Parts: sequence; C-alpha cells; structure tokens
Amino acid sequence: MCGIVGYIGKQKALPIILSGLERLEYRGYDSFGFCVFNSKPLLYKEVGKISLAKALAKIKSDGLIGIGHTRWATTGEVTKENAHPHSGCKEEIFVVHNGIIENYKQLKEKLIKEGHKFKSETDTEVIVHLIEKYFKDNLEKAVTRALKDIRGTYGLAVISVKDPDKIVAARLSSPLIIGVSEDEFLIASDPSAIITTTRQIIILEDNEVAVIKKDGLTILKEEKELKKEPEMIEWDIEQAEKGGYKHFMLKEIMEEPNVIEDAIRGRFILEEGNVKLGGLESVEKKLREINNIFLIGCGTAHYACKIGEYMFEEYADILSQSDFGSEFRYRKPIVDKKTASIFISQSGETADTLGCLKEMKEKGAMCLGITNVVGSSQSRETNAGVYTRSGPEIAVASTKAFIGQLTILAMITVYLGRQRNMSLTEGKEIVSALKKLPLMAKEILIQAEEIKKIAKKYNKYKDFFFIGRKYNYPIALEGALKLKEISYVHAEGVAGGELKHGPLALIDKNCPTIAICPTDAVYEKMISNIEEIKARKGPVIAIASKGNEEIKKIADEIIYIPKTLEILTPILSVIPLHLFAYYFADSLGCDVDKPKNLAKSVTVE
Ligand code: AGP
Ligand code: GLU
Repeated sequence: MCGIVGYIGKQKALPIILSGLERLEYRGYDSFGFCVFNSKPLLYKEVGKISLAKALAKIKSDGLIGIGHTRWATTGEVTKENAHPHSGCKEEIFVVHNGIIENYKQLKEKLIKEGHKFKSETDTEVIVHLIEKYFKDNLEKAVTRALKDIRGTYGLAVISVKDPDKIVAARLSSPLIIGVSEDEFLIASDPSAIITTTRQIIILEDNEVAVIKKDGLTILKEEKELKKEPEMIEWDIEQAEKGGYKHFMLKEIMEEPNVIEDAIRGRFILEEGNVKLGGLESVEKKLREINNIFLIGCGTAHYACKIGEYMFEEYADILSQSDFGSEFRYRKPIVDKKTASIFISQSGETADTLGCLKEMKEKGAMCLGITNVVGSSQSRETNAGVYTRSGPEIAVASTKAFIGQLTILAMITVYLGRQRNMSLTEGKEIVSALKKLPLMAKEILIQAEEIKKIAKKYNKYKDFFFIGRKYNYPIALEGALKLKEISYVHAEGVAGGELKHGPLALIDKNCPTIAICPTDAVYEKMISNIEEIKARKGPVIAIASKGNEEIKKIADEIIYIPKTLEILTPILSVIPLHLFAYYFADSLGCDVDKPKNLAKSVTVE
C-alpha cells in the first residue's frame, strides 16, 4: 500500500532513506518511521508528514544500514505506536511492511499466549514477533519460516542487531525492487524512491526472499538461489511515481482488481455464507434491530450510495434511501431508534457529507462509515465503519476507491442479509461470486487497447448519454460524471426507462449513448432503449455480458464484461467506463489527474 525504503552500503543510510521516503510522499500517507543502526538501533516514528530537516536535526546517525516506511493505515489507527518499523519484544529485530496480513488476529492471539508482548494495533507487528520466535542465528531463515505462518500480502524489509550486516526483504503481491550500485544496495516499494541513487534495479517477484549485504545480494525462492540480472529503469522521476503509467488515474484503474482483493481479504466465512467485518462488531447487535437506512455521500461516493440502496432493499429486506450530502442536509429525515445512516467518502473529509453525519448523530441515528482513510474525520465521528483499504487515490477522479466502496457495500449487504432472511445458500452464492471478481476485473482491463480505440473514435463528439437500469443506473451516472469531469464534454446519466420522458429529444447522429446492458433482469428493457436510440440514428456503445451475440445486431461498439450476479455487476460494468473516460480525455490532451476547477477532497460546503 504505501512506501518502503532501505539502504545498506558505504554512505550514511539516514539521509538516503529520508529523501527516498520524501519522494514517496506523493502516494499519500498518514505516518512514517525509520530505524538505522549506529552502534545500537535508532528507532524514530512520527504521525504526519515527513520533515527531512526536522528528522535529520533530531537524529544524528552515522549508521550505514537502515529501513524506513510511510504508512497508509489499513489495520490500527493512525498513531505513533502503529507507525512502522515495528520491533519485537526485545527491540532487536525491525520490520517495515506494505500490505495486509489476513490472519493476523489468530497469529497475535497465539503469540500472546506464547508470551509475546505487543505494542501496536497493527497486523504488521505479528511479522516481527514471528521472526523473533523463529530466530536462531540467521535472519533470512527466520524470515522464511515466519512467512510460512502468514496469509495475506506483503512487501517487507527486515534488519536485526542479531544479524546486523544485512537487510532481508520478501514480497507477495506488494511491489518491491532492489537498487544495485557500487558496494551499496537499496530496497524500495517504488523506483521513484531510489532512482537518484541508482537506475539499476532488480524486481523482486512473488515468493522471493532477498538477502542484501553491502558486498552482495542473494535472491532465494523456496530456499534455492536464483540468478537475476539488474535492469536499467529509463523512467524519469515523474514516470516512476506513476509506476510507469502515463497518469495516476490509469495506474489506479489498473489497481482495481487488487482493490477488490484487498477489500475482501480476510473478511469471509464461506462455509457460513457470511462475512466478518471487524469494524461493525461493536454495533452487531444493534444492527439487527435496524429497519431503515439512509446512505449519504457526494459525487462518485453518492452513486455508490445509490447502489447500496438497491442492494440493501433487495437482499437485506431493509427500507433504504440514498441522497447527496449537499441535499440531505436540508431535508427533514424521519429518524427513529431503528434508523441507521451510512456515510460513504473516499477522503473522509467531504464537508457536505460530514455535515450530514453531524446532523444524524444529533438526531440519534446510528452512524456508520465507509472510507478509505484511517483516522479521517469521518472515521473518527462515526459509531463504527469499514475501511475500503483501496490504498492512496491520487487522481482527482475517483476510480479504484469507488470499486472499493461497492465491494464493501456488497459485503455489508451479506452481513445485514444474514442477520435477517438471507439464506445460507444465497449468502454462499454472493460470497463465492465476490471471490471471483478480481479475476473478472482483470479480464476487463486486458481490453484496455480496444477501449482506447473506441474512445479515440468518438473523441470528436461533444455530447453523450449514459443509460442503465436498476443496479446500472447509478453506474450510468458515474460513467457520465467520469467523462465530463476529466474531458469537459457534456455527458448525462439517465435511467434507461426515462429516455422516452424527454431526453430522447436530444438523440441524433451527433449524440452517442453508452448503454450499460448486462444480461440481467432488465436486459430486454435496455434493448428496447437501444432500439429507440438507433431509430433516431444515435450511435450506441454497449457494455454487454460476455457471449451476448444478439447485441452485435444493434450496437455500434461493444465492450464485454464477464457474467456475475446482478448485485455485483456494477463493480464490473463501471471499469470499462473508467477506461473510456480516461482514454477519451487523454486523447484530447486534458490534464487527466488534475482536471480544471476540481479538488480531490471538497472540504468546503
Ligand atoms: C470523483 O470522481 C469526484 N471527483 C468527486 O465527485 C468525489 O467523488 C466527491 O467529491 C466525494 O469525495 P469523497 O469520496 O472523498 O467524499
Ligand atoms: N497493514 C499495515 C498497517 O496498517 C501496512 C499498511 C501499509 O501498507 O502502509 O500498518
């Protein structure tokens, strides 16, 4: 998720680590820390932003080895104790980690029973105690053994005063690279942190362990040594920050399968057809009494609310309604002791949404949150909630965070449904289908070049409709928002059935329509809408289910998405719209990551 930098060699480690962490600042983080070895380990942690000068002024270190981390919290609040590096009981081993340890609770309970004392709330800390438990006299052996107990994702770096002349690094699903230079090596989660020191890198692959000493590097896989040659990174700093992608927005769209994976990681009880959401444990009993829910958010987050509304009604039998934060504040909602409100916000700082939260708290409603930022205002003000764990979202246009929000909403639907009338079979069906989504999302992303061609073909048009029904009506709204906010062309989301009540008057050969028409309960109705449009010579780009041959007879362009349950379709159907908007805007030379007039977090009303 966030940033790792480590150094071992002939120079002082601290300035290199800190400047590397500073270069990772763009990724967004909530706290940072480092450990360098002088004669003894020097551990420094802070909540907030890195101040290189301040840290260097405070810390004098001639150490030639160290590791550092910028944290984007997923497990445990934003506090100094939860910042990395984490050390074990004896302060002799130090770990920095990116990722999520799925089975950390079970491991922590077992380690505490074995006498380990924990200092933080994080999942990461179990790693260092496991390494401590297995350490005899060799750090890489202890790390390798510890990783066998772990389920989840990691990019990690470890140093120890007990085996002091090496950094041990390991990777599973969370990027790590090794910088190679004359008698010195660096470890980092992202090339931008090290390319001022060296452009020679070795990419660590999944299940590989690196043993990095100042005079040499060994890479192990299943304890066998691998030979890997360094490669030159040609990127400049800016490209490196984007992981080689042209824009953050594209990088973040390409991360969407991982976002689904991270949102669901460790949160399933498949045999019970249920989910476990730690953030709702404190209100589990009260939630059983709730019989009406308000979902409130702004912009893209509001469209997630609209989808949640459909989900809760259809699968959890709960009266639900959604509204824009900016509107809801001025309504007179009927609130009683069985009312809950769910606030959705990527940043957790949107003023309109927070204003509603304050109002609903005063009215005595249960207030829950879905946000991507641990420690955000929303996360502190709500009674309980669930983090999306989408990682930092830098582009102003929200993409992967929306995917995270929808995934969490689907899980909350199962959670609430299984408290009510959802059967074991139905719960298992949704949970099993959710687990398949990351691969299905990847299947859509491999069509990126096709979608780019369609976007370029239509980039002369100035007006677009997006139409959808039921779960895909809010997706039509989101698709229109994405296109207009980054390419500045007019785009309007319309419920398919509403076309004939007015908007159809605008349809002609100069006004294309993106029709979201997966094979679901409202598919036939959507086909009628497409026929209405074709009768008026409107071009149609269809988002259809894989294998649908019929659609070829009426649509001008087709982008296929894999088949899944109707309730989960919006998580897939929005992905082609994210890519369409991105390639359309990029083909017009727009500033995709920072569109005019917009801010990433609207903290004013
Ligand atoms: C997203 O593409 C928009 N830029 C914007 O509508 C955003 O969704 C809205 O401002 C809400 O932000 P939040 O999720 O951080 O509350
Ligand atoms: N899951 C770890 C934590 O919450 C690592 C988060 C990150 O990748 O920054 O501390």
